[in-house]
Amino acid sequence: MISEKIQNILNEQINKEFYSAYLYLAMSAHFDEIGLKGFSNWTRVQAREEVDHGMILFDYIIERQGKVSLKQIETPETNFGSALEVFEKIYEHEKYVTDSINCVANMTDEECDLATRFFINWYISEQVEEEANVDDVIKKLKMFGDEKAALYHLDKELGKREYKQHSYNS
Ligand code: FEO
Repeated sequence: MISEKIQNILNEQINKEFYSAYLYLAMSAHFDEIGLKGFSNWTRVQAREEVDHGMILFDYIIERQGKVSLKQIETPETNFGSALEVFEKIYEHEKYVTDSINCVANMTDEECDLATRFFINWYISEQVEEEANVDDVIKKLKMFGDEKAALYHLDKELGKREYKQHSYNS
């Protein structure tokens, strides 16, 4: 069984993951509006992955005989700018999520909860991958500047991203 402190911080993390899904969906709608279908696809796929992140936490709390407590999800912003501005925003958001996951890991140490410490390692690795993927897109956007042909090709590339259900240990 997990302690109340661990249960609370995991429930807060569920909320952050579902908020992330909302944020990515808002970005996806924005990209659709400005005609960048590939960028829209990429953020839409990411939204589905964020739901998976939330559900993995949800299932873990239940498996450890804890109580899932769902909180209100904040409304995401809808005023977005260029593709580069959106991806810079994504990078900042993912850094915030990384900090949050690190705090969960820190609390598992304080609570001597080795099972949750082991569980949360999956999220630590996932955050490394997410930050790197976003950084990769930012670098390309900075390299090409306002060049329309390059943006068109990048949009095509991001349009190829496919959703694959995330589950713990995969
Ligand atoms: Fe679930 Fe993008 O972190």
